[in-house]
Amino acid sequence: MMKKTFPRDFYWGAATASYQVEGAFQADGKGMSVWDEFSHRPGTMANNANGDIACDHYHRYREDVALMREMGLKAYRFSISWSRIFPEGRGRINRAGIDHYKRFCDELLANGIEPFITLYHWDLPQALQSDFGGWLSRETVKAYGEYAETVGRELGTRCRHYFTFNEFLACADVSYHLGLTAPGLKLPKKELNQIRHHLLLAHGTGVSALRAAAPHAKITLAENPYFMVPAIDTPEYVDAAKKAFREQNAHFITAIMEGRYLDCYLDAEKENAPVFTGEEMKLISQPLDGLGLNIYYGKLVIPDDNERGYSVIDESAGKFITGIADFYTEPSSIYWGCRLVHELWKPQEIWITENGTQSSDALSEGDCFDLHRIKYLRNHLVYLERAILDGLPVKGYFYWSLLDNLEWHHGYGPRFGLFHVDFETLKRTPKLSAKWYQRLIESGRLI
Ligand code: FCB
Repeated sequence: MMKKTFPRDFYWGAATASYQVEGAFQADGKGMSVWDEFSHRPGTMANNANGDIACDHYHRYREDVALMREMGLKAYRFSISWSRIFPEGRGRINRAGIDHYKRFCDELLANGIEPFITLYHWDLPQALQSDFGGWLSRETVKAYGEYAETVGRELGTRCRHYFTFNEFLACADVSYHLGLTAPGLKLPKKELNQIRHHLLLAHGTGVSALRAAAPHAKITLAENPYFMVPAIDTPEYVDAAKKAFREQNAHFITAIMEGRYLDCYLDAEKENAPVFTGEEMKLISQPLDGLGLNIYYGKLVIPDDNERGYSVIDESAGKFITGIADFYTEPSSIYWGCRLVHELWKPQEIWITENGTQSSDALSEGDCFDLHRIKYLRNHLVYLERAILDGLPVKGYFYWSLLDNLEWHHGYGPRFGLFHVDFETLKRTPKLSAKWYQRLIESGRLI
């Protein structure tokens, strides 16, 4: 047998998010989230889709865990629906919500699958939006701390891995400034920057709360920075890409890793810059147990003798679009993402918390030969293998997604799953890529 290149204890996983898969939007005392409100508002969602039923993962989780087990998954990343636990966003706890996630973790553990919890994958309780304006207010930051403490206390003995937030760009810019996703607001830049800061503050507050409630937990976040890839693999280009990575992500990941907002960000935002204190920056930048990266695209960078010392090449040159605008794939961003964060900040562990592709996969005589997904995986994971062979501390990979699901405002058209879901009958069928992934997990090597 050929030697494995991926370590035996590598966490091969798949990921989902509560609103995209759970359904059961009013079950067992759950409160409304901003996504329930948004998707029920006419004109917001493609084909008027909503997550009322989605994949009904909330009720069918035993069946879904059995699928994971059959595929050989070692880990499952899922998010908790905050409004199942706090129907009003804070204060009163809904025990039925907590009990659901306890049963769910138990089911995973009984099947040898490690739970990885995301606390916030965009489904803010609607009450916090209505009462305080959501992330515009520090009240929501406080409520998030209470929620994080509760999850750590209740699930800490079952779950060892937590991600505080999924993708700050989507939490802030896409939902409060571009208005594309819930709550669908188009606030000006000044408010946007304050919201970005409040999210970082909530991250820091959540880290402290989780550490206190679940002292053995490993805590980080699942972030999608702008990935920068050196156009050519030479030290000069790598340095340019590294500089670009740090500066282009100054308002989120760089602030968390370095405890300050870089001047290039504050100077560019001028009077729209966020209001913050030194104490807050300390809270925001407390040490993490690793870094989770959602990797879907990368931008090529070249050194330049302009003021910044680099240029990011225009995306329209040579982009390859997988279907949804903005998803420009660059397979080597898996390698360069890991390498640049390692060179910049040396996180103890690196996790690929999402990576995946979509299409309009259909069944043909009961099969789904999603060859494009197999090609996508092969092209990308070879760069994951390179990261491992280089000795970078990558500990796990989560394919997005386990199941076809509600792709937010794009509706049910774009299918990202390893399993096809028939949204009429809710029947799950493994695609060819699920078998390919199973084989990779078994063999532990690609090249
Ligand atoms: C990511 C999101 C995830 C899913 C994929 C396709 O940005 O975190 O929920 O929508 O994109």
